[in-house]
Amino acid sequence: MTISKRIKQLDSNIFHRNDTRKRLYGLASSSKESFPLIDLSLGSTDLLPPEIILKAIRNALNQQESSAYCLHSATRLFRESVTTWAERRLGVNVDPDDEVLLLIGSQEGTAHLPLAVMDRGDTGLILDPSYPSHQGGLVLADAHIERLLLKEDQGWQPRFETLSDSQLDQLKIIIFGFPHNPTAQVGDQSWLDNAMRSGVKHQIVIAHDNPYLDLSLQGDSPSLLRCDGWREWGIEFFSFSKAWCLGGFRLAFAIGAKEIISSLRMVKSIVDFNQSLALQKGAIQALTCSNDWLSHIQGVYRERRDRTTAALRNLGWNVPIPSMAMYLWMPLPNWARDKGLGDELFVADLLESTGVALTPGSGFGMGGANWLRLALVRPVDELEEAVSRIGPWWHANS
Ligand SMILES: Cc1ncc(COP(=O)(O)O)c(C=O)c1O
Repeated sequence: MTISKRIKQLDSNIFHRNDTRKRLYGLASSSKESFPLIDLSLGSTDLLPPEIILKAIRNALNQQESSAYCLHSATRLFRESVTTWAERRLGVNVDPDDEVLLLIGSQEGTAHLPLAVMDRGDTGLILDPSYPSHQGGLVLADAHIERLLLKEDQGWQPRFETLSDSQLDQLKIIIFGFPHNPTAQVGDQSWLDNAMRSGVKHQIVIAHDNPYLDLSLQGDSPSLLRCDGWREWGIEFFSFSKAWCLGGFRLAFAIGAKEIISSLRMVKSIVDFNQSLALQKGAIQALTCSNDWLSHIQGVYRERRDRTTAALRNLGWNVPIPSMAMYLWMPLPNWARDKGLGDELFVADLLESTGVALTPGSGFGMGGANWLRLALVRPVDELEEAVSRIGPWWHANS
């Protein structure tokens, strides 16, 4: 069997090994009865979407159009709802025909984008650490990958200004996103302005992955659509997966420069027929309903964040308080470093001893080494239960 070199490059060993360990832990459940798995390793929420959205989807399921392929023109109502939303939420006027594209998840969009705007061997820049599909999309497009290292002592800020003119001239695309997974930083509008300025000056596509737009717990999130120049060189990805708890429904959209949107649409016309009209009805409901839901969901995550960080700090773990919802980004404790445990072995030992699954930071790139990501995707009592299990293990080892 011949497997492409591309696929071999995609093999993310750390996540694969982490998943295998979780599976094996689950299989050995008879000996783990006292410690059933508490899986805090995935950014997949335990919360239900608002009933009003589910109702809109349910009501549309019986309509014949929902079973048909969704051709481009059939998404007009959705695209118009996006433009109304963009004006209300971000204060920007968007052309529903040429600047909006429905997606089957923002991951689908960011992963396909390099195929639309790059040729084999072109260079793309991602952040390190970053969401794995940013790298994956570049690998699928046979691109050369450069990484911009994020550092804790710089507040995880991407320092685009450290790139020389000749480095920037080499780039065809920069893919990044704030609020940022995994560092849990909301980020700052000026960081995006910097990237967009470089994009316009050096003719680089600036792709901003923004599925956490509505999950800032500290002020408003940045958006590429607030930067000058996005209509020429920018594209921003938004999702219903996170704030609207619709991850399994695979609903997202991009707003961007006409040429970039039409190129991405062409790639999609080869690989899919886009998302069902019934699901689009749910998305339209989310785009048009009031903001009560968003403040509710932020409140839920704020409580989870505050209670979990308080419990961890009580233990002696100096966990920073993240500015965005959904994740904690936690330094490997000194005692683990002293024992020579890297983030992956730490996570493996923690799982084996307590049944609590986290994500090793190095899975997001070497810039995440010696960090751990905890997803706040269980109710508060379970999160506190996880920390109380960690306690005896922590004290026995530290
Ligand atoms: C930065 C980032 N982009 C994209 C995604 C996937 O979003 P979607 O469900 O819209 O594909 C995630 C999910 O964790 C993410 O963290």
